[in-house]
Amino acid sequence: MKNRDPATFHVKSFGCQMNAYDGERMAELLAAEGLAAAGEDADLIVLNTCHIREKAAEKVYSEIGRVLKRAGPEQPMIAVAGCVAQAEGAEIIRRAPGVDIVVGPQAYHRLPALLAKARSGGRALDTDMPPESKFGVLPARRRQSPAAFLTVQEGCDKFCTYCVVPYTRGAEVSRPFAAILDEAKALVDSGAKEITLLGQNVNAWSDGERGLEQLIRALDAVPGLARIRYTTSHPNDMSEGLIRAHAEVAKLMPYLHLPVQSGSDRLLRAMNRSHTSASYLRIIERVRSARPDIAISGDFIVGFAGETEADFAATLNLVRSVNYAQAFSFKYSRRPGTPAAGMEGQVPAEMMDERLKRLQALLDAQQLAFNRATVGRRAEVLLERPGRRPGQLVGKSPWLQSVHLETGAAIGDLVEVDIVSAGPNSVAGLGLGAEAGNGPGLAAAAVAA
Ligand code: SAH
Ligand code: SF4
Ligand code: F3S
Repeated sequence: MKNRDPATFHVKSFGCQMNAYDGERMAELLAAEGLAAAGEDADLIVLNTCHIREKAAEKVYSEIGRVLKRAGPEQPMIAVAGCVAQAEGAEIIRRAPGVDIVVGPQAYHRLPALLAKARSGGRALDTDMPPESKFGVLPARRRQSPAAFLTVQEGCDKFCTYCVVPYTRGAEVSRPFAAILDEAKALVDSGAKEITLLGQNVNAWSDGERGLEQLIRALDAVPGLARIRYTTSHPNDMSEGLIRAHAEVAKLMPYLHLPVQSGSDRLLRAMNRSHTSASYLRIIERVRSARPDIAISGDFIVGFAGETEADFAATLNLVRSVNYAQAFSFKYSRRPGTPAAGMEGQVPAEMMDERLKRLQALLDAQQLAFNRATVGRRAEVLLERPGRRPGQLVGKSPWLQSVHLETGAAIGDLVEVDIVSAGPNSVAGLGLGAEAGNGPGLAAAAVAA
């Protein structure tokens, strides 16, 4: 028996930070409809999906199966949201009879109507990209974690040949300046100390007169907001003004995620990236001269169609020249409907595995070196969650490192910390002054994992 009158809901997000942001907004919307947030045994399960790589996209069907096998007298209602919903739409309804609602990332403000249809026994599908913006209709923000996301720009007009995002998220749209400032203030009023501005090409944000730089400067003046970040940027939209903001805006954190994908100009052309490895390196140089301590992060694809050993060597060379603090690397995944799916010279799986291993070994070594180089620095840490040990909290450094420390301070506090040791994925800190709890817990030095 299907539960046709859900009283509780659970949103499970599988994708990028924007997907997580959408998940929060859907949760707020369902709460405003009178449903109560619950765990995995909720009456309505929202699977907020990602289509970027095949593995991510296939996960949705195994998740649906898992939810339907759940023990209990009634089967939960299931909504599939996110980018797989957009890409596959009616195909999900056909392939998965247990699914009641399919809703795309630009239509989820209409969930209440879709829910009403499902309640009356129907199956509801909405993958429109309506002219009205969902943001104008969504309920106000609720209580936030200390580090909050805020979508300012959505969609992509870049059409990299491997990528589904222009199809699942639609054309580039920037939210209005005033709406963003209002949401930022609401986030701060409900507990946020740090805001990460989100966009598929966040540095393309523009309202016709102003760019991301001006938006960041306006946020700098919001009382109670301590930190500003933004992600993801495209090399071509890295303006001089935005780079200058890294030198001049104290709240703007010294971290830049700037995907490059490959170090081979031949492949960059085939990917339709519209930048070269040299132009990318010049941007990094300019950013570093504006803000010498900035942590650089990037995204890489290995095994793109036609990638030779020489192309891959060019990627390793670029990584050596940049020296990343952090990075994400992926095996190329052939996505149906994208131009690259039909390209010649698809790289065999074992070769991709082998190249990914070599690239990741280099990136891991750079990340560890970056973490080690911060040992001895004093930095402000925003405490975000409890650590594994009693009395331990975990927060983020300005360079987005996870910092473990023993402290009497509370989640949401910004504390001065001495970084005392480093591991591959985090560093350990020693709290200073009153917030250091029961004396300087030297044990903190041992926890970097
Ligand atoms: N708009 C952002 C993020 C896009 S998706 C950008 O341009 O940087 C995040 C990352 O996923 C991309 O940077 C890319 O490295 C990776 N990615 C996208 N499509 C992929 C595919 N088909 N196969 C493997 N990785 C992919
Ligand atoms: Fe995808 Fe390229 Fe757009 Fe990024 S810039 S979302 S990789 S098409
Ligand atoms: Fe995935 Fe969609 Fe984000 S495809 S990466 S959830 S924009």
